[in-house]
Amino acid sequence: MKISIIGSGYVGLVSGACFADLGHSVVCLDKDKTKIKSLSQGKSSIYEPGLDEILKRNIQSKRLSFTTSYKIACQADLLILCIDTPAKKSGEPNLTNLKLSLKSISAELRKEIFIVTKSTVPIGTNEYIKNFIENSTSFKANIISNPEFLKEGSAVQDFFYPSRIVIGCESNASRKAMKELYAPLKLPNKKFIYMKVQSAELTKYASNSFLATKISFINKISQIAEYANADIHEIKRGIGSDSRIGNEFLNAGLGYGGSCFPKDIKALINFEKKFQIDHSLFSAVEAINNQQFTLFYKKIIDAMGQKRLKHSSFMIWGISFKPNTNDVRDSIALRLIHRLADQVKHLYLYDPEALRESFVHLNQYNNITYCKNAYEHMQSSNALILCTEWLEFKNPEMNMLNRLKDKKIFDGRNFLDKEIIIKAGIQYFGLGR
Ligand code: UDX
Repeated sequence: MKISIIGSGYVGLVSGACFADLGHSVVCLDKDKTKIKSLSQGKSSIYEPGLDEILKRNIQSKRLSFTTSYKIACQADLLILCIDTPAKKSGEPNLTNLKLSLKSISAELRKEIFIVTKSTVPIGTNEYIKNFIENSTSFKANIISNPEFLKEGSAVQDFFYPSRIVIGCESNASRKAMKELYAPLKLPNKKFIYMKVQSAELTKYASNSFLATKISFINKISQIAEYANADIHEIKRGIGSDSRIGNEFLNAGLGYGGSCFPKDIKALINFEKKFQIDHSLFSAVEAINNQQFTLFYKKIIDAMGQKRLKHSSFMIWGISFKPNTNDVRDSIALRLIHRLADQVKHLYLYDPEALRESFVHLNQYNNITYCKNAYEHMQSSNALILCTEWLEFKNPEMNMLNRLKDKKIFDGRNFLDKEIIIKAGIQYFGLGR
């Protein structure tokens, strides 16, 4: 199949490369010329396990190419929209880029087209796309909502082994096109879930908000656990073993960040407000997520002492919004660094992949050092703060941690072995334990 991906960000690039790997002929479009140039040379700006090899393989076999030209992109049979839809201040998704892109598509369209939307868009957007294209051209637009559920850090794996493929469409022709698109994956029929376009749009929000709710739920229990002298790790095991609840997304800590959950919860609250639906559930999810940050920050201040803070230095482990990605969008670590930087003597930052990405957000501070490894400057730091649970932090070298001047560790992800740390004579501060 000849397909074009409109928008070569995270979702677009992974989807485009993987569809090419399935044998389709794929053109990835982006308005950013520099990005397209480096992608054409096989250089990806995102760190995603397995992606580089897939990019190189498919560029070489000429199944995958990159362009900034809508004229070229519109020659495809099927367009996949992967345009970013960032949240406005009000929480409403910003559709400016999507609308600009539709304008360019309608200017170059020369035939009836299938338009698949993978971007997370407000309910009703696919209908808008159909009306826009059909009113500005003489061609029919077959709209399909096909939300993506790829997780950063395992996006390639998620693409090839999806939990399900949600397809919102209106016609048999659209169903047939989607079957053909995914056919090389050889998935059983039950993995394909067909529904109304609006249901598919809402399914994406429902899925992400359910997971965010699960995180805020366990975080609220962790707050209670501190007063009950209980341990949130033990509680997680106690409830997660019930298959109706499940073990996943029950890790208490600094809360959710990234480019999806914060934005999608905001969008859902915004939708509820617009239709005067009670928005207390998702507002509470968002509030609890913020509480976790405040509680953790307070633990640091209380333990270090407000007065001593300006004379204290910290080693910070992990800046990406979660492990196995260099994405720092809505990263809670960055938020904490911003909060601390003006108040402390020095911050030493280490992340296996995201140092370069974080630099652009932090270059206003002159008391930050970027470390080559996790232990450089341990001896110059009073305490260690773990913000992102990269696997390489799991079994730290205790003799190196013992170099911390104040022998204190603040574990924002409840990731380290508390007993081992305490045994080594270091004070441990987690969340809910
Ligand atoms: C999410 C959805 O999982 C994915 O299906 C969708 O397509 C895009 O949004 P992603 O943003 O890549 O994926 O990250 P995810 O693994 O879901 O984690 C989101 C945030 O929740 C991270 O900040 C993570 O640290 C946090 N989290 C996750 C917790 O705090 N506790 C947990 O138990 C799990």
